[in-house]
Amino acid sequence: MTLRPDVIPASTSPETAAAPVADDASAASPVSMDFGPLTISYDGRVLTPRPWTQIQSSWAVELLAELPEGPVLEICTGAGHIGLLALALTDRDGVLVDADPVAASYAVKNADAAGLADRVEVRTALAQDAVAPGETFPLAIVDPPWVKSQEVTRFPEDPLLAIDGGDDGLAVARQCLHAVDACLHPDGAVLLQLGTFNQVAALEEWLEQSGPPHLRVRGLRSFEDRGVVVLLRRPEPGTRLLS
Ligand SMILES: C[S@@+](CC[C@H](N)C(=O)[O-])C[C@H]1O[C@@H](n2cnc3c(N)ncnc32)[C@H](O)[C@@H]1O
Repeated sequence: MTLRPDVIPASTSPETAAAPVADDASAASPVSMDFGPLTISYDGRVLTPRPWTQIQSSWAVELLAELPEGPVLEICTGAGHIGLLALALTDRDGVLVDADPVAASYAVKNADAAGLADRVEVRTALAQDAVAPGETFPLAIVDPPWVKSQEVTRFPEDPLLAIDGGDDGLAVARQCLHAVDACLHPDGAVLLQLGTFNQVAALEEWLEQSGPPHLRVRGLRSFEDRGVVVLLRRPEPGTRLLS
C-alpha cells in the first residue's frame, strides 16, 4: 500500500480545542452535541466527539450490508457515538467497551437517548478483558488513543487516557488488535482509527511479521489532516487463524 507522507494533526480534536477543562467540577458538567442524527452527551473527562469520525460509522454501515450476521464490537468507545451511529443506521446489536467508567456511563446514557438501549451492551473493561471466550463479532470498530506519549502535552484539553498511545502512538492499538484477533469472525472486518499515515505504515509492517494478530490492512480512508480509518481483514478470508 502506498502511503502519503506523515500528517500530524494540529489537534486531536480541533473542532473543540477552544473548550478548556478548567477544573474537576466544570469538567464534569455534561454538554451535548449532534453526531449525525444522534444527540451525544459527554463532559470534559472524556474525549469530545469529533465530527470527522462519522466516516468510521458510515464505513461500518457500508461493510455491515455484506458482513456475516452478529453484533458489532467497539473497543475504546468513549461516549459511544461512533458505534451507536453505526447501530442506529442498521439493525445490528452492539457491545461497546471502554476502560474508563465515566466514558462507559456516557455510552450507556447515549445508547438510551438513541433508543438503542435494548440492542447495546456497554462493558467497562480494558481491551484485553473485553470479550469472553467463544464470543464472535463480524465487525470490530477500534478507536484507541494514538498520540505519542511525548506529544500528549500538546493537547492539554484532552484526557490522558483517551489520547496517550505510548512511545509510537500504537501501544493501545496493538493491544486492541490482539483482543479483536481472538473474537473476529473469519470473514469479519475491523475499522481502526489512527492519527497518521506513518502510523498506518508502521502498523502494516508489524502485522506482516509472523504471528498474531492475523490481520492485514485492506483499505484506508482519511479526513483532511484529522485522522485515518484503516480497514483490516483476515489474511485469507474464511480461514480461522488461532493465535
Ligand atoms: C481516542 S478515545 C476514543 C473515543 C471515541 N471512540 C472517539 O473516537 O472519539 C480512546 C478511548 O479509549 C479508552 N481507552 C484507553 N485505553 C484503553 C484500553 N486499554 N482498553 C479500553 N479502553 C481504553 C479511553 O478511555 C478513551 O475513551
